[in-house]
Amino acid sequence: MLIVLVACCEDMPAPSSLLDIPFEPTEYELDIPDHFPQMIIPQDNPLTDQGVVLGRRLFYDPILSADNSLSCSSCHLPEGSFTDNNSVSPGIDGITGQRSSMSLLDIGFNNNGLFWDGRVATLEEQALLPVEDPIELHHTWPDVISELQSHELYPRLFREAFGITDTTGITKDLAAKALAQFERTLISSGQSRYDQVIDGIAVFTDEELLGHNIFFDIEPDVRRHAECGHCHNAPLFTTNEYFNNGLDNPDVGDLTDIGRGEVTGTPFDNGKFRVPTLRNIFKSAPYMHDGRFSSFEDVLNHYDTQVQFSRNVDPNLRVLNLSETDRGALIAFIKTLEDPVFTSDPRYQSPF
Ligand code: HEC
Ligand code: HEC
Repeated sequence: MLIVLVACCEDMPAPSSLLDIPFEPTEYELDIPDHFPQMIIPQDNPLTDQGVVLGRRLFYDPILSADNSLSCSSCHLPEGSFTDNNSVSPGIDGITGQRSSMSLLDIGFNNNGLFWDGRVATLEEQALLPVEDPIELHHTWPDVISELQSHELYPRLFREAFGITDTTGITKDLAAKALAQFERTLISSGQSRYDQVIDGIAVFTDEELLGHNIFFDIEPDVRRHAECGHCHNAPLFTTNEYFNNGLDNPDVGDLTDIGRGEVTGTPFDNGKFRVPTLRNIFKSAPYMHDGRFSSFEDVLNHYDTQVQFSRNVDPNLRVLNLSETDRGALIAFIKTLEDPVFTSDPRYQSPF
């Protein structure tokens, strides 16, 4: 028995006490624009300055990957509004999945399931997955934990964030909690042109206003309604619900990715995906769950005349026949959602 025990723990660094490092967590104050909803934060993972510092470092640290080459930020970069601008992303072995990386902007406001298909409920649960995913970081948690335990800095950061008493207190669940804390801080700055108009400190140009009215179906000429606002609703510019927006007809051909249908097991959900935010959308091309459209023009062409009307398509989609003026106005309006203050915010950049 004893021999087995010794063998099992050979690779583990000896626990060292952290009690001489102070544990005095301070509350992290989220900067949420006034016209945004409240963020729901799990009671067992309140945001602290120390937890966010740790989470940011883990997010940018290639220590999470088997060959020290990739971190979360390799596929979620601030300048891409926390996407990687690839249609699909290569992991450490150069293998790609079939889905496009997702923006993490305002991710903390989504309580309706994570990933394109909503298969995971919380950020804490999600953060455990990329480390062991063979097409992402392809490492193992036991190895990551032992690297963190013998690291010169991490034991202190875990102590300061979570009050662990010795290095054996470092666990994957605490690492995931810290990552989730950092992700919840990734909030719109409230300083996009759109938000300034809502706050009454800027006004739309005539073209932006026309685009706004076309987007939200409040343009007096109903032939101009584009229906976008049903699914990409303000202020987050997503309802975080699951829809089929007419990219593919799930009843025709062999749909390689059935999206939400895989999670619910209902054929009615085949070809449905979660609505993404349109905030900072000009930074996160290519578009859709599989990155099939390289430009915003392609997206507009799709909604304009190329929607596939299957039985699962949402009833809010129809042939739009947008004029050149209407397209220009829609683009001008959606550009008001650009938020460069968010993407260059020093709090979200790499600490390395
Ligand atoms: C190799 C690229 C890659 C790496 C590395 C990666 N991600 Fe992702 N991430 C993706 C892709 C692709 C998706 C969408 C996957 C899907 O829907 O099946 C995604 C989705 C997510 C989502 C869901 C967002 C939403 O709106 O539902 C979160 C949160 C996330 N990643 C966080 C992380 C964290 C934290 C790490 C590091 C521990 C990480 N990612 C590492 C590519 C990556
Ligand atoms: C019925 C709901 C619905 C309507 C209406 C709708 N969308 Fe979407 N939109 C979605 C869904 C769902 C996705 C994700 C689909 C996928 O990837 O399979 C999406 C994806 C997008 C994307 C890609 C985002 C990304 O991160 O890849 C853009 C851009 C977009 N929509 C813009 C618009 C515009 C502009 C309009 C109006 C002309 C509009 N949408 C109307 C539901 C809708």
